[in-house]
Amino acid sequence: MNKQRIGVLTGGGDCAGLSPAIKWVVKTALDEGLQWQRGVKYEVLGIHDGWKGLVRADPDNLATDGYLEPLDEKKVRTWDRYGGTFLGTSRTNPYDPNNDRSEIVLSNIKKLGLKAVIAIGGEDTLGVAYKLSRDGVNVVGIPKTIDKDLPETDYTLGFDTALNVIVEEVDRLRTTAGSHKRTFIVETMGRHAGWLALEGGESSGAYIILIPEYDFSTGKVCELVLEGRKSGARYDIILVAEGARPSGGTEFVKENGLDSFGHKALGGIGEFLANQISNTTGLECRSVVLSHLQRGGAPGAYDRRMGRYFGIAAVDLVATENFGKMVSYKNGQITAIALSAVIGKPTQVDITMQYDIERYNGRRTILSKIKTRAEAAILSTA
Ligand code: F6P
Repeated sequence: MNKQRIGVLTGGGDCAGLSPAIKWVVKTALDEGLQWQRGVKYEVLGIHDGWKGLVRADPDNLATDGYLEPLDEKKVRTWDRYGGTFLGTSRTNPYDPNNDRSEIVLSNIKKLGLKAVIAIGGEDTLGVAYKLSRDGVNVVGIPKTIDKDLPETDYTLGFDTALNVIVEEVDRLRTTAGSHKRTFIVETMGRHAGWLALEGGESSGAYIILIPEYDFSTGKVCELVLEGRKSGARYDIILVAEGARPSGGTEFVKENGLDSFGHKALGGIGEFLANQISNTTGLECRSVVLSHLQRGGAPGAYDRRMGRYFGIAAVDLVATENFGKMVSYKNGQITAIALSAVIGKPTQVDITMQYDIERYNGRRTILSKIKTRAEAAILSTA
């Protein structure tokens, strides 16, 4: 039988759902019945630490190389129960204009005889996958990011588990917030898109939700809080995405400098808001940054199942030599999309359809359009 070697790696920020996807890449590729049907015997090589593994790999010493690990069904048997990634990850950019190591990666892929590389990652990892595919490598992508902002897919691994962390933590905060009559600002991840804050806030019943897609007025946030208190609220839960901005301001950055993909490390908006609200309203405010708690822990049922489907679909693409694609979930179906379509603008919340700019919260109409107060005023005087 024809023998082929597939490489699999995870890159960028970790999340729940990566290990299930790796397990199902391995199980599907090594499935004896499928190998027989496909007429190909696959070998799966785990590449450690994302693209860094292909920069640092020593293809001539597979047995002792710390970056390359042959994977078999026995090894991955329980991986779908665990969070993080058993292959490790990094934010290494082989195409970094200040330190281009793409030639090393291309040469290592060749030396390792990889028929295809399955890259599990977000915008950065898949951006590298796209560039490699332009440079002649057979690449297949699997979407992951708790931010759920990759174009051309309705789901990215890690999102649902992160959402459940947000809901659990907000539930926990409610009792202490209520006892002290405090306003809690909960800062979620979400660099360019507010999906975590919006869906986390909708699921947990947050009073105010602030997202990167709509610059908020600090004055209005304070007014809403006071309004809520007047109508009987004992405490408040406000969710804010790390990438949200006060109008006229910029995003809050917690560290100077950029990573090798040009991203800033965001953080601090929660603390800023807590100070602003307490200074303006006199209420006691506290901020909580959920940070990497959202990326940790065991995958929930949805991430285990989607990891499984994405892993299986990725091997299907390899088996049918349908390269340069990312597996995707669109309109309730697992499908595939060109990597070129995934690079570019993140998918953001649609303000007109999904956000209430008067309440700074999720929509309260679903099958009809939200009217602004100004539009409603015109209508009522007509
Ligand atoms: O992977 C995306 C993300 O979770 C963003 O929401 C967040 O800004 C970033 O990663 C944090 O990255 P790091 O783990 O490098 O601090």
